[in-house]
Amino acid sequence: MKSCRTHWFFFLAAATLQLGENRIVSAFSLKVEGLRVDKASLRTKDPTSAYSFVLSSAMDLMGDDNHYARVNFLATQVWPSARVAASQIEQHAPHAQSFCELGCGPGLPSIAAAKIGIPHVWATDIDEFALALVRAAAEEQGLVVKTRTVDLLLTNNNLPDCDWYVLSDVFESAAVARGAARICEELLRKEKAVWVFAQSDRVQREEFLREMKQRLGEDAMEWSPIEKEFVAAADSQPNFWLADINETEVNYE
Ligand SMILES: C[S@@+](CC[C@H](N)C(=O)[O-])C[C@H]1O[C@@H](n2cnc3c(N)ncnc32)[C@H](O)[C@@H]1O
Ligand SMILES: *[C@@H]1O[C@H](CO)[C@@H](O)[C@H](O)[C@H]1NC(C)=O
Repeated sequence: MKSCRTHWFFFLAAATLQLGENRIVSAFSLKVEGLRVDKASLRTKDPTSAYSFVLSSAMDLMGDDNHYARVNFLATQVWPSARVAASQIEQHAPHAQSFCELGCGPGLPSIAAAKIGIPHVWATDIDEFALALVRAAAEEQGLVVKTRTVDLLLTNNNLPDCDWYVLSDVFESAAVARGAARICEELLRKEKAVWVFAQSDRVQREEFLREMKQRLGEDAMEWSPIEKEFVAAADSQPNFWLADINETEVNYE
């Protein structure tokens, strides 16, 4: 547990530097639930591209206010995997009437799914502030994204019933990785499309893969680098995509 925390800490320090580059700081003072936010666009140089709201400063979560102390900083930023997920959703969406994101954070993939015209879009997370960020950004773009609290650790989790599910960078701990695997197995058995995006430096993604192999009785599954389009995780799993994200190759423009 401790090593996991340390891992995230160093990652945060590195990623925050990179995240700084993809913000469009608003001339107005944008706020969601009293906290300052910036826009993070899918393509920073394309004013028509989908965007999320992200917390402007981690410092705003510090201090004595219990309301904000509960917010998880990780849930307030668009991470590289979400950016790639949103871009793949735009380019290669399967024929689907409904879409659901798990551990959505600011929900850039959900917003992209709504923007390409998927009629029913759900963004889910355990972090209430993340869901508020999604609603605010969707509303400002004239999009309908419904939000719901869904905990990946729970078996009875009130998951919306959709055709297509996306998870980007959700493996914060081994327990979450195993919870995500349990849910993904259920979804795949119902023949849902499941797309999972994760960076190779997220140690718990291997726990997720190990658990998926065991649950599906399929040894020949691996993460595959983003090529041109969807790649099935295994012949036996034609609806399952395990997308390997190389953070240094993510295009912000
Ligand atoms: C690193 S952030 C990624 C956010 C977003 N998907 C992205 O890629 O930009 C991890 C997300 O997983 C969510 N999360 C952590 N544990 C969870 C759980 N048990 N159930 C649902 N979501 C969880 C966090 O709230 C956070 O939004
Ligand atoms: C990520 O991409 C960079 C640049 O193309 C490359 O040097 C590096 O080895 C890659 N990292 C991984 C883990 O594949």
